[in-house]
Amino acid sequence: MTTLRLTAVGKTFGAGATRVEVLRGVDLALAAGDAVAVTGPSGSGKSTLLHIVGALDRPSSGGVEVDGTDPFALPERELARFRNRTVGFVFQDHHLLPQYTVLENVLLPTLAFPPPPAGAEATARRLLERVGLGHRLAHRPAELSGGERQRAAVARALVNGPALLLCDEPTGNLDRTNAMAVTDLLLELEEERGKLLVVVTHSAEVAARFARRLTLVEGRCVEA
Ligand SMILES: Nc1ncnc2c1ncn2[C@@H]1O[C@H](COP(=O)(O)OP(=O)(O)OP(=O)(O)O)[C@@H](O)[C@H]1O
Ligand SMILES: [Mg+2]
Repeated sequence: MTTLRLTAVGKTFGAGATRVEVLRGVDLALAAGDAVAVTGPSGSGKSTLLHIVGALDRPSSGGVEVDGTDPFALPERELARFRNRTVGFVFQDHHLLPQYTVLENVLLPTLAFPPPPAGAEATARRLLERVGLGHRLAHRPAELSGGERQRAAVARALVNGPALLLCDEPTGNLDRTNAMAVTDLLLELEEERGKLLVVVTHSAEVAARFARRLTLVEGRCVEA
């Protein structure tokens, strides 16, 4: 069972003349099985919000709880482990390492905190099979299509079995067909996993696939 709760989360960057108040009291509660799309204009704070949810960046005020735990209250090493094991990120760019094979790239997150989770390689192979890349395990990222690279990035994000799968414009670099294929894959995997999926997108068509849609308005999160 996974829950995510944000209470009055605020985030301000800079000070004085360069001070920007991006988030002004975001309240949000998500439970296991929830899949939500987050939309909003450029600069409205979508990436900032996702980074706070994934414990990559601290809120300036307010609280974050994942399964009742405030990740920012953890000691530094436990926080790093939380980011590695509890959160999976997919970005607009795949961020696969060019010198490694697809299978090696997917295994990388399992190596951060030895020993790797039991059966890590079997999990990686199963996930790559699941995202349709079972025949591309030994390829390098440069030898894949854009859609294939993004599907590999999804497998990598899931290899440690994270409670939260957070995606920032995961289809932003893809053509329409691949964008919808990756969106449907994320939703199918979410249904199989029964955990939490948050997808930031500029695409109304991508957002329309989600039962729950949120948007950022003046630093607050509202149902779209
Ligand atoms: N590290 C930072 N330092 C200062 N300002 C920042 C920082 N990160 C983000 N901002 C500012 O916060 C605001 C929100 O940025 P954010 O990246 O969250 O927007 P976004 O909704 O993801 O936009 P986009 O759709 O263009 O990706 C912007 O005005 C940005 O300039
Ligand atoms: Mg952004």
